[in-house]
Amino acid sequence: MAEEKERVYNFSAGPAMLPREVLETAAKEMLSFRGSGMSFMECSHRGAEFKALYAELQERTRRVLKIPDNYSVLFCAGGATHQFAYIPLNLCGPEDVIDVVQTGNWSKKFAEEAGRYCKINIASKSSDFIPAVETWKLTEGAKFIYFCDNETIHGVEFPEVPKVPEDRILIADMSSNLFSRPVDISKFGLLYACAQKNFGPAGCTLVIVRNDLIVGGPKQADKCPIVGGYELLKKKDSAYNTPPTYNMYIINLVLKWIEETIGGLDKMAEINAKKADLLYKYIDESEHWSGIAKPEFRSRMNIPFRCTHDDMQAKFLEYCKPRGLITLKGYRTMVGSFRASIYNAMPLRGVEKLVEAMKDFERDMKF
Ligand SMILES: Cc1ncc(COP(=O)(O)O)c(C=O)c1O
Repeated sequence: MAEEKERVYNFSAGPAMLPREVLETAAKEMLSFRGSGMSFMECSHRGAEFKALYAELQERTRRVLKIPDNYSVLFCAGGATHQFAYIPLNLCGPEDVIDVVQTGNWSKKFAEEAGRYCKINIASKSSDFIPAVETWKLTEGAKFIYFCDNETIHGVEFPEVPKVPEDRILIADMSSNLFSRPVDISKFGLLYACAQKNFGPAGCTLVIVRNDLIVGGPKQADKCPIVGGYELLKKKDSAYNTPPTYNMYIINLVLKWIEETIGGLDKMAEINAKKADLLYKYIDESEHWSGIAKPEFRSRMNIPFRCTHDDMQAKFLEYCKPRGLITLKGYRTMVGSFRASIYNAMPLRGVEKLVEAMKDFERDMKF
């Protein structure tokens, strides 16, 4: 595969790499979007250009993810963190309970914020694996079970949608793995993802919610900011106020790339698995590196790892830089570690180059 010309391989956990083709199209259309004489950034959210693009984006999102008709697709301003509040404000009364399966920082943060608006029960707690559903301490009468499908920091991913009792409704944060593989939307009441990892720039979050859960407006209408009410956003085509229009434009280009250049989510999943397998295989093979998450729950998107020799973090990061391999430092609380985030837009060549760098580093350090 060709090297990325002029560009680095950016292993950032997000904002992350975008496909080269998307950036090239955006550059080409910067001064005039589809012959309008305006950048899409300059187009009114009440104008014909935005309306046409939004219709295209809705249709494309539904097609790529195979979203059933009884679900709404909302493009919300702000990050996934905003939804930590909007989810309970829209779906729960103050006395309702959400059972949270806490597998890392992001599910913990959800519990902290959502707990200001409803009751939270921590059904299980772990950080490098996912406990079996049978061991979760679920609350009698709780309507929702919440989990983070891919914990970006610890690199722990649910291998499949958890099989929960039929009267429970699943809510999932898929911020770091939505669009990386096919997902059966019908198994969820709500799922959501910020765009800046797998499908666009930061500042826009996709919320997919079953319609029956949002009829009648937000459950805590007295507390929920009007701008975050799901039923209103559905009615207003995600544009009650001025939405992040340019983000939506880029998201549409990324989804078009997934559909037309990659060939859809099955193919995307195949490519992502190949990249992750390559890196894990080397981490497992070499005595000089070790993984962090338990193998059955390893993420295909975020791969945290360590060098088995002490104090090598700064040296390896410096070693990688001239090879165009950047942002490999582990999360700040995981001292001395590395993390390779290899989302959709990271080419296979980037992962090959990282493995080459690891091999060469071992040789040059004379381990
Ligand atoms: C799994 C997960 N959830 C939520 C968030 C928060 O997203 P945002 O920064 O867009 O609010 C992140 C961001 O890294 C994440 O990885």
